Amino acid sequence: MKIMLLNGPNLNMTGTREPNIYGRTGYEEMMRQVQRAAQSRGHEVTCFQSNHEGALIDEIQRAWRENYDGIIINPGAFTHYSYALRDALASVPIPAVEVHLSNIHQREEFRHRSVTAVACIGQIAGFGMQGYILAMDALAGKTVKSGD
Ligand code: DQA
Repeated sequence: MKIMLLNGPNLNMTGTREPNIYGRTGYEEMMRQVQRAAQSRGHEVTCFQSNHEGALIDEIQRAWRENYDGIIINPGAFTHYSYALRDALASVPIPAVEVHLSNIHQREEFRHRSVTAVACIGQIAGFGMQGYILAMDALAGKTVKSGD
């Protein structure tokens, strides 16, 4: 499968940012481990991180133009308020899985709500970087966006 893996704002700071919540593995190392898992499964994964909403939207649209089979997205704080990102995910017929390193449902009230998850086939939260690999396996089992 050809998979687009998107990480939103501040995820490039993983490793040093609030390590008690997000762990001590740096962003680059996390992506290396995800790439290794992808290779062993025969998937091609493109990793992209941005602190900018529009740049993430551009990549979602590019994924559609370039015939990607799936999107894995950790929208960071955009999860909780970006209707633009939600619309972008809803605009493309590519199944997407939302991932959060932390269990957002155990944290502050404002993190309990995701406005982007509704445009995804599912959400994985609380498993650290393993969540990206779980998302990859979920996508491999579900390559159409509808419920069939
Ligand atoms: C996060 C959870 C968000 O609430 C937060 O704003 C992040 C990271 C996670 O991976 O747990 O930046 O998406």
